[in-house]
Amino acid sequence: MTLTATGPRHADTDAPLIAPLIERWSPRAYDPTAELTDADVRTLLEAARWAPSAMNLQPWRFIVARRGSESFTLIHDALMGFNQAWADSAAALIVNIAELTDEDGKPRPWAKYDLGQAVAHLTVQAQHDGLHTHQMGGFDGARLAEAFDLREGLEIVSITAVGKVGDASSLPEPLREREVAPRSRKPLDELVITAA
Ligand SMILES: Cc1cc2nc3c(=O)[nH]c(=O)nc-3n(C[C@H](O)[C@H](O)[C@H](O)COP(=O)(O)O)c2cc1C
Repeated sequence: MTLTATGPRHADTDAPLIAPLIERWSPRAYDPTAELTDADVRTLLEAARWAPSAMNLQPWRFIVARRGSESFTLIHDALMGFNQAWADSAAALIVNIAELTDEDGKPRPWAKYDLGQAVAHLTVQAQHDGLHTHQMGGFDGARLAEAFDLREGLEIVSITAVGKVGDASSLPEPLREREVAPRSRKPLDELVITAA
């Protein structure tokens, strides 16, 4: 089934897309009372698990921390800049880790690409399940790698906040303004070098 844009932050697409792709966006206001069940978390990770990867090596690892846990506080404390100001209301923070080398030091050149794809699967599944996600690159990776005792070769690439959308008015400015601003993308003409 395909849908056109209906919600205020839905994508205004130039071609029909499936609903979760139209409806997905990255909120910063999360409902601070919403929680994820074990089944919710399992479904999200299962979506990531079934992503394709080079040689099916599945070079992705995750740390999942629900709000209220010690790990959540550790991860939240390592967020940088304005990310700390909003991410505390998310139901969970997921640390996305690429296995750049295996345990014998052998490189996995597509690890970051594969991890990104697994996270994309997770975000689409989350959207389908009535959840939202917001990925972050602003965090202190060295601090987190030490806190979670990650072996060499495992690199933290991003962190995903997951939860139910909250009230934009709960955000401080300028985040509140950004939360309701129109979303945009480059035109396809600019992205496609050639299409025969
Ligand atoms: C790898 C990556 C890093 C990002 N880092 C941050 C971040 O540190 N803080 C933040 O608020 N948003 C961050 N974002 C969210 C993007 O700004 C957002 O996805 C983009 O503006 C498009 O908006 P949309 O997801 O609502 O379509 C990041 C997204 C990705 C994929």
